Amino acid sequence: MCGIIGYIGFQRAQPILLEGLKRLEYRGYDSAGVATIEDGRLVIVKSAGRISNLEACLEQRPLLQSTIGIAHTRWATHGCPNDINAHPHSDASGRIALVHNGIIENYATLRQYLEGKGITFRSETDTEVLAQLIGHLYAPGQLESAVRQALIQVQGTYGIAVLCLDEPDKIVVARRGSPLIIGVGADEYIVASDASAIVQHTSQVIYLSDGEIACLDRQGLRTTTLDARQVSKAVQSLELTLEQIELGGYQHYMQKEIFEQPTALRNCMRGRLDMHESRVVLGGITKLDRELARARRIILMGCGTAWHAALIGEYLLEDFARIPAEVEYASEFRYRNPVIEFGTALVAISQSGETADTLAALREGKERGATVLGVVNAVGSTIARETDAGVYLHVGPEIGVASTKAFTGQVAVLAMVAIWLGRKRHLSPTAAEILIRELARIPERIEQVLTSAEHIREVTEKYCDRENWLYLGRGYNYPVALEGALKLKEISYIHAEGMPAAEMKHGPIALISKGTPAVFIATRGAQYGKVISNIEEVRSRGGCIIAVATEGDAAVAKLADHVFYVPDTPDPLQPLVTVVPLQLMAYYAALARGCNVDKPRNLAKSVTVE
Ligand code: M6R
Repeated sequence: MCGIIGYIGFQRAQPILLEGLKRLEYRGYDSAGVATIEDGRLVIVKSAGRISNLEACLEQRPLLQSTIGIAHTRWATHGCPNDINAHPHSDASGRIALVHNGIIENYATLRQYLEGKGITFRSETDTEVLAQLIGHLYAPGQLESAVRQALIQVQGTYGIAVLCLDEPDKIVVARRGSPLIIGVGADEYIVASDASAIVQHTSQVIYLSDGEIACLDRQGLRTTTLDARQVSKAVQSLELTLEQIELGGYQHYMQKEIFEQPTALRNCMRGRLDMHESRVVLGGITKLDRELARARRIILMGCGTAWHAALIGEYLLEDFARIPAEVEYASEFRYRNPVIEFGTALVAISQSGETADTLAALREGKERGATVLGVVNAVGSTIARETDAGVYLHVGPEIGVASTKAFTGQVAVLAMVAIWLGRKRHLSPTAAEILIRELARIPERIEQVLTSAEHIREVTEKYCDRENWLYLGRGYNYPVALEGALKLKEISYIHAEGMPAAEMKHGPIALISKGTPAVFIATRGAQYGKVISNIEEVRSRGGCIIAVATEGDAAVAKLADHVFYVPDTPDPLQPLVTVVPLQLMAYYAALARGCNVDKPRNLAKSVTVE
């Protein structure tokens, strides 16, 4: 949700900022802008739309030569996506420029106060209020102090970078609730919302914590808290490589991320499946070994795709470990006065580790005494740092807005956690051994599904003009139906509903008319016979059946208009395999409809506002 970047050093800032913005564009693409100090002037260039629009604006101007600058790519919250609302924003004097990721919740009160002081606002944004407030509080040579005083008055979330014409060799940055990482190079700093904009310059980083302010100049950096206490920060090494965030030979990140799932899952499970001892090894949570083995209840939380993975996690934990488990939308949990009894463990699931709703929910759970675990992909992210323990996905960076490999990574990790916990409670070594062996085979099973990509494309193209789709599954494949529907809606803008197949007859079956595509996940397993009956019900009402079925199942082929076969897999692990054809369908539907696969409208990869 908005990406910010800043540079100070000895190189020209503009190309570094633009390159960084392109890496951050997945966080928002409503507008983009840059501010530098050029020949004693504060220069701000900004434009609605993609970063390419900003580049075009910059090309029409004399080259910016400055070695300091800040820049922003926006996902609009307050004020529509136009040139005026684009960041950077400046104060009334035009001497201070600021970029911001987050939401200033008390912006209306602050704006009223500043307007009372005679300040005229140009934009509708909450961000301009902060720029104006800093300008209002500024005394010569005291930028850091003005930022501090302003932030003390602010309610809400922010990751900011601030430039001041009167202190031209300095960038002041700060964060609360929005991510900010400082890349440490040789006599230079690159500050950004995430590591993807930093990795090509340096692998040495400092993770700024909530409530910290850093003042960067070419000689060094100083970090303090909001109440001006000095903090010493460790420089850490990034795990990310440049290759991981490049497209390679693929056309889109989503395509790359779907096809790299076998490798991603091998990395995710590497060193964690001990075949000889029939156990799972999860270094990140062993310190809570005894506490978790005795947990009385587990609450899993996430948003969107992570919530779907959490739902599978609930089934897995109850199945393997016999622990009462339940799933919560992170956004609802915090505001509904949840009951957290002694012995409750809370699992926050998040690819980015920065989702504001999930972060707020985990803080609420922690406050109420729950043990808090993270299932996170982004190493060093806020959720990873604020949880008591956790398991990283290790599936590599996910850049496409539609989550794919993170979903299979989350399900794989939750399966491993459930087996790990199961062995401490009710799961026999024999049952664990079978599950571990089956888990280890998942990457090759996904490889097999991926060989049907062309067939999936052909079928999808036949139906991609239909505006209403249903996705139906039972048991472990019900969350997969939800996930399939979400994938289709978010990148191809087709209305799709996912539901338990049995629920259809309680209402949604009324939506079926001649030609309505109904995607059934009808693999062999516990509820196979019942799903077949549900297929019959839709077929007899004229729906077009697209089935995901177990290889060799001729019975489904007779009923369905089209079948995508997947290798036989035990029920609890089926989501790891059955979701893949649905990811491919969504991808090919979006392509056929001419949609921007990696940057769907109105969305951003990382939702850092509540
Ligand atoms: O980074 P997170 O896993 O916390 O993100 C949660 C959701 O915003 C995310 O899964 C979203 O639903 C995806 N765009 C779905 O593809």
